[in-house]
Amino acid sequence: MSAELIVSHLRKQFAVGRPAVDDVSFRVAAGEIVVLLGPSGCGKTTTLRCIAGLEQPTAGTISIGGDEVAAPERGVHVPPRLRNIGMVFQSYAVWPHMTVRQNVNYPLRHRKVPRDEAERKVDRVLELVGLSEYAERPVTQLSGGQMQRVALARALVYEPRILLLDEPLSNLDAKLRLRLRDELRRIIKEAKVTALYVTHDQAEAVVLGDRIGVMENGKLMQMSAPVELYNKPENLFVANFTGVSNLIKGEISAPGAVRLSTGETLRITAPRGKTGDAVLVAIRPENIQLRPNGEGADTNSFPARVIEGHFHGTQTTYALETLGHRIEAIELGTVPRFSAHDTIRVVIPPDHSWVFPQ
Ligand SMILES: Nc1ncnc2c1ncn2[C@@H]1O[C@H](COP(=O)(O)OP(=O)(O)O)[C@@H](O)[C@H]1O
Ligand SMILES: [Mg+2]
Repeated sequence: MSAELIVSHLRKQFAVGRPAVDDVSFRVAAGEIVVLLGPSGCGKTTTLRCIAGLEQPTAGTISIGGDEVAAPERGVHVPPRLRNIGMVFQSYAVWPHMTVRQNVNYPLRHRKVPRDEAERKVDRVLELVGLSEYAERPVTQLSGGQMQRVALARALVYEPRILLLDEPLSNLDAKLRLRLRDELRRIIKEAKVTALYVTHDQAEAVVLGDRIGVMENGKLMQMSAPVELYNKPENLFVANFTGVSNLIKGEISAPGAVRLSTGETLRITAPRGKTGDAVLVAIRPENIQLRPNGEGADTNSFPARVIEGHFHGTQTTYALETLGHRIEAIELGTVPRFSAHDTIRVVIPPDHSWVFPQ
C-alpha cells in the first residue's frame, strides 16, 4: 500500500522569474515521513503540486512505487487521479453540506467501493483520527482542528500510496495546532502511509519528520534526520534557519583552529576548509555554556561581560560581550544566574560549533 517516492532533478520554471523548483532530488522510503521546510516562496508547494500532478514539471522525473508519473522530457504526465495520492491542504477542503461520515465516504463512493466495505473503512479511519463520536455531525458544527481531521480521514480512507500535506496546521489557533501536530505523526505512522509534509514551521518539522529537507530559493539545501540537521548543518542557510544566531568572523589558522580578529583562537572539532580560509564560526545560543568568573579553564573558555539578561520564566536569554562580538546565550532554569555588568566566562563547545566560508 505505501510506496517509495523518488524525485530526481525536478525543475519547475513558471513563465516569469527564476525557477520555483531548481534541480531538487530526494527520496522518501515507503512508510517514511519527510518534511520539506523553508521560508515562504522557497518552492515547497510547487514541489508538492508537481508530485500530485497538479503542476507539470519543466524537467526531471518523479516516480511513485516504481511507476514513473512525471518525466516531461519523455512526455510522461500521469494525471492526478491516476496517481493514487492523498492530499491535505491548509484550507479545510471539506464539503459543508455533508456530515463527517459522508465527507469521508465520498472518495470511496467515487471509487465504487461496495457499501459495507466502505462503511468498515470509514469507521476505521474515523477511529484513527479521533472522530468516531462525530461521524453523524454536519462538518459545519466542527472546530477547525476537527475539520482538518475530516480532511485527513478523507485523504487516508482509500489507502493512497502517498500522503501529501501542505501546511495543514497553518489555519488553526495555537492550542489546536499543537494538539494536532503531536497527534499527526502517530496517525500517519498508524496508517503506514508514505508522507511528504510541507511547512515553514521548524517545530512542526522536528516533531513530525523522520527526515527534514530544508529548501531555499527552489533548492534543497540539506535533507537529514532532525538531530543531524540541528547538530550538523551543512551550510549557513540551514544553520541560520534552524536558529543559529551567533556568527564570529575568523580565519582557519591550523587544522581544528580558527583565529579571530581579536587574537583569540577557537578550537573547532570538525572545521570545513583549509588553513588560511576566511570563515564564519556559527554557534547556537543554547550550546554556549556560562560560568561564574574564575571557574574552570576548559577549551574555548573566554571572559565575557553581561550586557543584558531577559528572564522568560523557564529560561534566561543573555546578550554578552565577548571575543569582540555581541553574543546571544540561553540558559535553562527558573533562576537567572547573572545580571547586567557581571563579568563571567563563556565556553564555546568545540564539537557543537560549525565553520562556514565567509
Ligand atoms: N502559478 C504560478 N505562476 C507563477 N509563479 C508561481 C506560481 N506558483 C508559484 N509561483 C512562484 O514560485 C515560487 C515558489 O512558490 P511556492 O512553491 O508556492 O513556495 P512555498 O510553498 O514554499 O511558499 C514563488 O516565487 C512563487 O511566487
Ligand atoms: Mg506554500
